[in-house]
Amino acid sequence: MTHKLSTSFGFHQVTPAERRRRVRAVFDDVARRYDLMNDLMSFGIHRLWKRSLAAMAAALPGGLAVDLAGGTGDVARLLMREDKWRVLVCDASPAMMETGRDGAAQSPQPGWVAAEGEKMPLADDAADLVTIAFGLRNMSDPEAALSQCRRILKPGGRFICLEFSRPHALLRPFYDLYSFQVIPRLGAWIAGNPDAYQYLIESIRRFPKQEDLAGMLREAGFEEVAYRNLFFGVACLHWGTAPARVRDSA
Ligand SMILES: C[S@@+](CC[C@H](N)C(=O)[O-])C[C@H]1O[C@@H](n2cnc3c(N)ncnc32)[C@H](O)[C@@H]1O
Repeated sequence: MTHKLSTSFGFHQVTPAERRRRVRAVFDDVARRYDLMNDLMSFGIHRLWKRSLAAMAAALPGGLAVDLAGGTGDVARLLMREDKWRVLVCDASPAMMETGRDGAAQSPQPGWVAAEGEKMPLADDAADLVTIAFGLRNMSDPEAALSQCRRILKPGGRFICLEFSRPHALLRPFYDLYSFQVIPRLGAWIAGNPDAYQYLIESIRRFPKQEDLAGMLREAGFEEVAYRNLFFGVACLHWGTAPARVRDSA
């Protein structure tokens, strides 16, 4: 199957700073429709995947959790169902966080920090858990973001990443058809921004597959790295543990 990839964005031919600006513009633009689009695109399955992430976190001792690229706060709110977690959402798009804050006025709120994952304004060893759901592929420098995640984790702290990944070969033709034909149209109808959703599809395709991402986690210094496929590899949970280490300047 051949795919007609949009060239209008050209995200991959621009400087990291320009890419960051464009990615942020995408999320600022779709923020109000983002949660609805997620439910429609995934038939609500993204909620089950996020629950798998939260279930993994529920088995940990608790403390401060940082949800990087936390968007409207879905994962943060799931984590906060367990009293043992205090949660800080860190996201580059103020509009995504405002949408989350406005939509959940009655429920306990996480803390919200507007910042890039590549340069988080948090102290070394600050967190007991760092989560990131569908965010790493949007980073202009994912290696730097992983390194930051390790830096802000206490030794022994856990990193958990939920991200789209490489589906099983049998599923791929249907997956391709759906993602290239249906999602951009949904993006046009519901969010009024087909290019934004074309970007999302492209970013999924370019993202490293399961083993490669596990290698990136090890490169960033995480130990006990492992992963578990969700829905035949359409998405994947990766995790790792921050080591006791000699401090560096990551
Ligand atoms: C696909 S959304 C995921 C939101 C949420 N985690 C979820 O699962 O619903 C990606 C999020 O990454 C954020 N983002 C993109 N680039 C980022 C960066 N460099 N640093 C921090 N957040 C970033 C976007 O603003 C957006 O909220």
